[in-house]
Parts: sequence; structure tokens; C-alpha cells
Amino acid sequence: MGAEALKEVCIMKIIRVKDYEELSRKAANILAAQIVLKPESVLGLATGSSPIGLYEHLVEMYNHGDLDFSNIKTVNLDEYVGLSPDNDQSYKYFMNEHLFSKVNIDSKNVNIPDGTNPDAEAECSRYEKAIGALGGIDLQLLGIGNNGHIGFNEPGDFFPKETHIVDLTESTIEANKRFFEDISMVPRQAYTMGIGTIMKAGKIVMVANGEKKATIIKEAFYGKITPQVPASILQLHPDFTLVADEAALSQI
Ligand code: F6R
Repeated sequence: MGAEALKEVCIMKIIRVKDYEELSRKAANILAAQIVLKPESVLGLATGSSPIGLYEHLVEMYNHGDLDFSNIKTVNLDEYVGLSPDNDQSYKYFMNEHLFSKVNIDSKNVNIPDGTNPDAEAECSRYEKAIGALGGIDLQLLGIGNNGHIGFNEPGDFFPKETHIVDLTESTIEANKRFFEDISMVPRQAYTMGIGTIMKAGKIVMVANGEKKATIIKEAFYGKITPQVPASILQLHPDFTLVADEAALSQI
């Protein structure tokens, strides 16, 4: 089936919400439903500012006794090369801070690329195999970069298939400097799941909020499918849901 024909059979769902609070609640409900329906789910998780509210809601539901993470397995999208889990800018630290330390997840079931492994080939192949050994991802959560990246798959000439090392673009380094003391401290490389790894997930849910995402949301989901806008490939996923606020949807 060609890309155009495939696009015909794919139904991208858009859940339009008022603001960040509603986005976080609705997206958390989708993840919660997955956890309730399949308590041993493999969840693909994202970091960044977009999912923070969603994680807060999941923790709240857990505290009310509505969610059990004891059999949940997680695989994160990416990690900065060179940062150890105790570095407060590492994605492992972020996940502990916002979710893992607050729910009853078993640390054995948590997977994040090891940013301290200097052997990129070995680390990427280990991570890809670990995802395969779990039987793949049931639900993958995504944010979107201002340049259309998903995970750290930056705009390029092709869609990378598997977990790999990337050189972050200047635009990503610029966007992420807000989390660091100084731009010179933003790592230049990351390990990230590939586009193929992400696309194999059974369900994909993206959260996007704010006016700064409006242009890229229009390009990614109403433009052509191109590796120059990595998120555009999601138009071909059979079960893709975008949860976005009015500001992020303001150009469509
Ligand atoms: C994070 C990730 C990135 C972010 C994206 C958006 O694990 O893989 O693709 O989702 O950079 O970041 P925020 O949410 O900070 O705008």
C-alpha cells in the first residue's frame, strides 16, 4: 500500500481542549484507561514540559487508589548523552521526580537509555532489544519539538528506524536551554528511540499546548509527510490521537 492510500485508511483523532489543565486531565485519562484495561501495559513515556500536568494527574489518581503501576513497564523515548541519572537535567531524574518516585512502579520495570554509556552502538542496540523483549509498546506518549521532532528524531533526509544517537539541532538546544543554567551546559547529543520504534506502538498519544506549537502542528498534521518534519509520519499511524489546546490548534 502506498503512503497516500495508507493515509486514506488512517483516522487521526484530535481532542481539542481549552487549556493546559484540560489537556493534562484528558490525556491522563487516556493513559489511566490503558493502565486499568491492561495492568501489565508497556507504556512509552516522554519528558519535557508538555506531559508534566498529565503525570501530576496520574499521581493524583494513584493516590486515590484508582491506578496500580505494580505490573506496568515503561520505556522512555530518550536521554541526553553524558548525563547520569542523578543529574537533575537527565531524563531519568525527570521521570523519578514527576512520576516514578510517586507511584508503586517497580524500578526493574523502568527503561531509559543509559546516557552514561559512551558506546553508542552498544547502548542503542541494548535499548532496542529491551523494547523488543517487552513485546513492544502498547501506548506511546509524545510531545512535539518546535521543529517537529518526536523523541529526539530531528529533521533530516530520512526517518531513522531504530534507537540511535543524534546530534541535537541548534533549534532544539535553544528550546531546551530554559532547563539549564547556561546554554553551554545543554548536552549536544542524545540517545533516542527511532521513528520505526515509535511507529510500532499500538497506540500513540501526543500532547501539545501553547501558541509556540501552532505552526508546527499545522505543518506536521496538515502538511506533507516528510522527514524534514519528523512528526508528520504520525499521519500514517492507525491509532494516533493528538490532544491539543486551542492555542496549539490556532492555525488549523
Ligand atoms: C522528550 C522528547 C521531546 C519533547 C519535545 C517537546 O522526551 O522526546 O521530543 O517531547 O521536545 O518538549 P516540550 O514538551 O518541553 O515542549
